[in-house]
Amino acid sequence: MTNRTSLQKNLGIGLTLGVILLWLLGVIASGLVAQHEMNEVFDSALEETAQRILPLAVTDILNRETGTGNQRAPAMKDHDEYLTYLVRDDQGNLLLQSHDADPRVFGTLPGEGFSNTSTHRIYGASAVSDTIYIEVAEPLAHRREAALEAGLALLMPLIFLIPVSLLGVWWMVRLSLRKVVEFQQSIESRGAGDLSPVAGDRLPKEFEPIAVAVNRLLERLHRALEAERSFTANSAHELRTPLATALAKVQRLKTQVQSDQLKNNVAEIEEALRSLSMLSGKLLELAKAEGGGAISQSRHNLVPILAMIVADFEGQVPGRIILNLPESEVNSFLDPDAFAILVRNLIENALRHGSHKQPVEVSMVNDGTLRVCNGGNIVPPEQLALLRNRFARSKTDAAGSGLGLAIADAIATGAGLTLHLRSPATGRQDGFEAELNVAGAR
Ligand SMILES: Nc1ncnc2c1ncn2[C@@H]1O[C@H](COP(=O)(O)OP(=O)(O)OP(=O)(O)O)[C@@H](O)[C@H]1O
Ligand SMILES: [Mg+2]
Repeated sequence: MTNRTSLQKNLGIGLTLGVILLWLLGVIASGLVAQHEMNEVFDSALEETAQRILPLAVTDILNRETGTGNQRAPAMKDHDEYLTYLVRDDQGNLLLQSHDADPRVFGTLPGEGFSNTSTHRIYGASAVSDTIYIEVAEPLAHRREAALEAGLALLMPLIFLIPVSLLGVWWMVRLSLRKVVEFQQSIESRGAGDLSPVAGDRLPKEFEPIAVAVNRLLERLHRALEAERSFTANSAHELRTPLATALAKVQRLKTQVQSDQLKNNVAEIEEALRSLSMLSGKLLELAKAEGGGAISQSRHNLVPILAMIVADFEGQVPGRIILNLPESEVNSFLDPDAFAILVRNLIENALRHGSHKQPVEVSMVNDGTLRVCNGGNIVPPEQLALLRNRFARSKTDAAGSGLGLAIADAIATGAGLTLHLRSPATGRQDGFEAELNVAGAR
């Protein structure tokens, strides 16, 4: 399971939740303030109504001919009452009531000022030396409904706010990370051999240090590789001339000395110089192979090159190589020089390490698959796996430095190809086979 997270997703969800939470807190706060203000307005209206009705009620009651007793204020038109009122004397006897008023809502004795019952808000006022009281009642449900509607109205924008915030954050993050994604893709898409600096100048400020660090690392790597390559190349090159001179001198010396003992010694020196010269040649090839340049700018037909190399070997070991060439051209981006070095090393190995009694098969087919195959003892798998390492050799009597397969592998890898080594060879009980498809070079 991976615990890698997406910055875009995290920021989108986190910021949206934050906005929702803040909005809810805002809704609660403004709801409470609105409710408080509404209560004040409602209370003031309640008080105003009581003060307005009271003088009218008192005049009405005092002018009655029948004296005291309850009377219901007639309704001008049929309607539902929102505010109801009772007019009572200080003993609680009803004198007047609005036509919808329910006396059970009010207390048994009238009082002054604001009070609450479970269902109503009541305001009481008195007149005529506290002998006549008016009480106006307003249902609390009405206030609750008003507060609820105000709260819902404040919550409504959340329906739009959530998707808009999610989309907005997603878009903003995507926009801000665009350069970072481009940076990541440019690093991802470059080949393994490309050590040129990455372009980080358009990155957001926070990411700039990454580009700087990557470039510094690439530069150090480039310098280290360059130093290693030029050292190998230079030393191999510098060795060549003095070696050739020494070899020539030793050969001349061999003709001049008379004693057989001395002749043998000189021959040994000549042999040592020869293998030293071969080693320097291989080191030069390895330096070239590892220095890149296995890819050429255009495609080349590799079939004639293969034919030429085999013809070269034919001169040295007549009749040992069986060559099979494709009918059509095999065009590849693999550099012709690099291809020649690679093929030479593979054929040289087959001739040198394979059974001398069996032929070496070199074949190329139309799809670009090259096979070099020889008979001989099987190379054990654990040794086979190590043969591409520099200076790695399996048990063999033949001379060599152990660089041939390292060179071949470096060229193949540099061209994006895979060199397959198999022992026993495909379709045989013994032998060794090297195979690669040159068509895939890029
Ligand atoms: N065609 C082959 N058949 C059998 N063994 C092989 C073959 N090719 C390579 N090997 C084994 O792999 C080892 C490494 O090969 P490689 O070409 O790297 O070095 P080398 O041939 O010994 O020396 P160099 O090529 O540097 O002169 C050889 O020593 C040999 O044991
Ligand atoms: Mg070799």
